[in-house]
Amino acid sequence: MQIKKVGVVGCGQMGAGIVQTCAQSGYEVVASEINEDLLQKGLAGIKKILDKNVEKGKMAKADADATLARIKGTTNMNDFSGCDLVIEAAVEKMPLKKQIFADLDKICPKHAILATNTSCLSIIEIASATKRPSQVVGLHFFNPVPIMKIVEIVRTIATNDETMEASKKFSLSLNKEIVIAKDTPGFLVNLLLIPYLYQAITTLQNGVASREDIDAAIRLGLNHPMGPLTLADFIGLDTVLFIGQAIYEEWKDPRYVPPTLLKQMVISGWYGKKSGKGFYDYK
Ligand code: CAA
Repeated sequence: MQIKKVGVVGCGQMGAGIVQTCAQSGYEVVASEINEDLLQKGLAGIKKILDKNVEKGKMAKADADATLARIKGTTNMNDFSGCDLVIEAAVEKMPLKKQIFADLDKICPKHAILATNTSCLSIIEIASATKRPSQVVGLHFFNPVPIMKIVEIVRTIATNDETMEASKKFSLSLNKEIVIAKDTPGFLVNLLLIPYLYQAITTLQNGVASREDIDAAIRLGLNHPMGPLTLADFIGLDTVLFIGQAIYEEWKDPRYVPPTLLKQMVISGWYGKKSGKGFYDYK
């Protein structure tokens, strides 16, 4: 199947990154948001990054303009009617995702693939809201999407070979590497990431070292781009908690029990970078 036109549901941090990446790779993109304000905010963010890339000499002005011209913003889901692939990047709420997929199933052409960027929710459950579960797949991108070099492709028990092949070809066309994972909570990356982040938070909670030293130990000792506490702030502490809880619910594995400190911070509204306060201050 030839993918020419891509839809993206949600133009927040992840959605906007996916929109930009697809448009930069030559796809016509329909980007939707629930209202005009959020849509304009998402599109303005993409323009800002492209302008910066032009300023830095990383991109020609004509390429940035052509990228923007390939993006059509909308608040009307019916505009997905001509898409070959729609990637949902809405908030992590199962009832909402099921509603979006039920709507997409009615609106999109019969051949279209419906993908979710969920980081931990059950993809087969999302697919159950459609009459085409064999064409539903996880396409899990990483933040910042235009920079991160990987897409995790998640196959459910119902996803067919054709959908997998088209998803692989599409992800590679975005200049990303791919990994394939089963539709089990946490898939591959978050299954490995969450215990690591929880250990770092527990280490801070137990007073073993300062936040700066925990981060420096990993950043400089293991050559990671960010230490674990900075990374947790970057992902969002609410998200880090949510993913761990989703995995724990399924496996009851104690490595995914959230540290008390993390729960207390989330209760306090300290979500990390996006709220201005997490393990560090961002104001
Ligand atoms: N959007 C687009 N581009 C961005 C960006 C953003 N939000 N943030 C940074 N960049 C670009 C910068 O413009 C810069 O580009 P140039 O080199 O061309 O100038 C480049 O990234 C490097 O940025 P900086 O020099 O400002 O800073 P840095 O070298 O520290 O890199 C980083 C920033 C790329 C975010 C790097 O710190 C990093 O890779 N961190 C780890 C990120 C990570 O692990 N992400 C995955 C999180 S998990 C997830 O997303 C999934 C989930 O389910 C939880």
